[in-house]
Amino acid sequence: MKFCCAMPQNKSFFNCCTCLSKDGLLDESEVDVSTYGTFIDNPIKQYFGRASVNRNSRTTQDKNMSEKLKVIVFLSSARVGESYLGNGSWGDRVGGVIKEVLDDADFEVSVWDPKANPYQVLQQPMHMIKDTSVFPQWMHDKKAELESADAFFICSAEYNSVLPPALTNMLDHYPPAAYKHRPVALVTYSVSPLGGVRVQPALKTLVTELGMLPIPTIGRVAQVRDKFVDDILKDEGVRQSMTKQAKELSWYARALKTYKADTPMPS
Ligand SMILES: Cc1cc2nc3c(=O)[nH]c(=O)nc-3n(C[C@H](O)[C@H](O)[C@H](O)COP(=O)(O)O)c2cc1C
Repeated sequence: MKFCCAMPQNKSFFNCCTCLSKDGLLDESEVDVSTYGTFIDNPIKQYFGRASVNRNSRTTQDKNMSEKLKVIVFLSSARVGESYLGNGSWGDRVGGVIKEVLDDADFEVSVWDPKANPYQVLQQPMHMIKDTSVFPQWMHDKKAELESADAFFICSAEYNSVLPPALTNMLDHYPPAAYKHRPVALVTYSVSPLGGVRVQPALKTLVTELGMLPIPTIGRVAQVRDKFVDDILKDEGVRQSMTKQAKELSWYARALKTYKADTPMPS
């Protein structure tokens, strides 16, 4: 289809595109850029010039938009049994709500719980030794799962103002290449009114070092014990905040996934 747009003087580029796409007329893959070039000055020409590269890329984009995004939720606590703070880990409850929210947002969710996987205290990360056959098969499978994830979500406690060792121990086993160029959402929690806020800078440093991209909205669950009754979340504000994070995470993951499909990642 040949398509040309004589943009009225008083209409901005965005107005013009918005009304066209709303009417279903805007299909960049069918725009004849040269026709545009004769009518319209640089910004719009550049837009369509870029967007009209080829039909295959549009097909890839459609596929990427319809596929479920794979997200891994990392828990941080290895605490089990009774303590003065209640039964087991509060992170399990918070992580459970994160999983529900991500399920509702149509992610394919996998939860990595340090209690469920028998990690030793780190002896060697997988990428730092030659003979990787010394690692059990489940760790190779986990590495492959990391590599194929579209996004990450970390649910972290605060232990003595820093990161819980079970979390860093689990993450440190794998190479940064297995995490990089994927967005990550962060939630911290604690029994105190601070909600783990002191650990957030360390958490951002860690994920950035591993090559993940932290999304802008960061979550905090203060006085976590008061937020649950019989392990059921009673504070809708917590769920709303996580829902906002899930939407943001999905946006970043789709944007990166779509772009990466056509553009090789820098090594
Ligand atoms: C070793 C340890 C250190 C802790 N340090 C802090 C802390 O620095 N700040 C805080 O607010 N709570 C701290 N707490 C209390 C935690 O907020 C609380 O135990 C929380 O339930 C930990 O998460 P978990 O139950 O998932 O392990 C600490 C707890 C432990 C076990």
